[in-house]
Amino acid sequence: MKNAYADPYYDAHDTIDLRSDTVTRPSAAMRQAMASAAVGDDVYGEDPTVAELEAKAARLVGKEAALFVSSGTMGNQVAIMTHTRRGDEVIVDSQAHIFIYEVGAPAVLSSVQLHPVESGTPPHGLYDPSRLARAIRTENVHYPPTALICLENTHNRYGGAVVSVETMSRVYELAKENGIAVHLDGARIFNAAAASGRPVTDFTQFADSVMFCLSKGLAAPVGSILAGSSDFIRRARKNRKILGGGWRQAGILAVAGLVALDTMIARLPEDHTNARELAEGLNTHTCLWVDMDWVQTNIVVAHTDRCGVPAEEASRRLAQAGVLANATGPDTLRLVTHKDVTAQDVVEAVARIARVFPN
Ligand SMILES: Cc1ncc(COP(=O)(O)O)c(C=O)c1O
Repeated sequence: MKNAYADPYYDAHDTIDLRSDTVTRPSAAMRQAMASAAVGDDVYGEDPTVAELEAKAARLVGKEAALFVSSGTMGNQVAIMTHTRRGDEVIVDSQAHIFIYEVGAPAVLSSVQLHPVESGTPPHGLYDPSRLARAIRTENVHYPPTALICLENTHNRYGGAVVSVETMSRVYELAKENGIAVHLDGARIFNAAAASGRPVTDFTQFADSVMFCLSKGLAAPVGSILAGSSDFIRRARKNRKILGGGWRQAGILAVAGLVALDTMIARLPEDHTNARELAEGLNTHTCLWVDMDWVQTNIVVAHTDRCGVPAEEASRRLAQAGVLANATGPDTLRLVTHKDVTAQDVVEAVARIARVFPN
């Protein structure tokens, strides 16, 4: 169903795509801006639009400087490469995107070891500082030095759970007491800010570097931002070049990021409302069940066990009924709301799911 931010070049079809907020298509305003963006060679530092995006993004998250990168994964990996040295250890939650979904890149690219920790009970108890503290290495000839703690907010595999500002502050304090840097995988940090009604800088002040995605809920076609101190970003720019990530006339992409920052952040609460409606609809009308405590932002984790169907099978059957949702565990489906899913789409999705999996 079309909405104010729909892609004018896309023929909306009947399928309701709830697999991820990465499926969002650019808005008409983004496409128009892309057609007339001022560009230059960004490796020479000559693309004015990339420079404008980086400056604006840095200001937005309260950091000195920022770097436009091609993806969230590249942003996280450039951050790890910049914060660490070969042989260091990096603490992550055991369900972190960096650990589960980034192809083991920290080992491949930065020669560091990840130390995954069950950091607390979701959805509210993640990143318990006492659990993280136990993972910090002491000085011992056998141990790799702990160089970095990576936080994720909102937390993808924990259903878009928000890590509170207070928790981030306590983790940051712990890290600083131990001379450790903190990187925030903030792919969806604006969802965390919207859900808690706090400025995004309340969160980002407790991280030395932050990555956030322009291409997920913010709907730009490509790109993420890595932000930090000027010195950090200077070194990160060089590491991005090592990875082959130097841009040329990338202003055409960066301008869509600028439009995303101007137009898409304010509408994120709509996605959160739709996610709650979706979750309540599933609980009322279908045999799928959702723990409402987990529905804090735009991600709904629905359990398939009461339907007696494994999640992969449920996903296949829903696709046939015109609703796309990913299996994320043996009996869990993930459904994500985003700007190309309207409130009417949610009602329709629940109706379709109820026909396949009635209560
Ligand atoms: C929490 C989190 N971090 C990082 C990423 C990586 O982003 P990208 O797909 O742009 O590499 C994702 C993507 O889904 C994510 O959910």
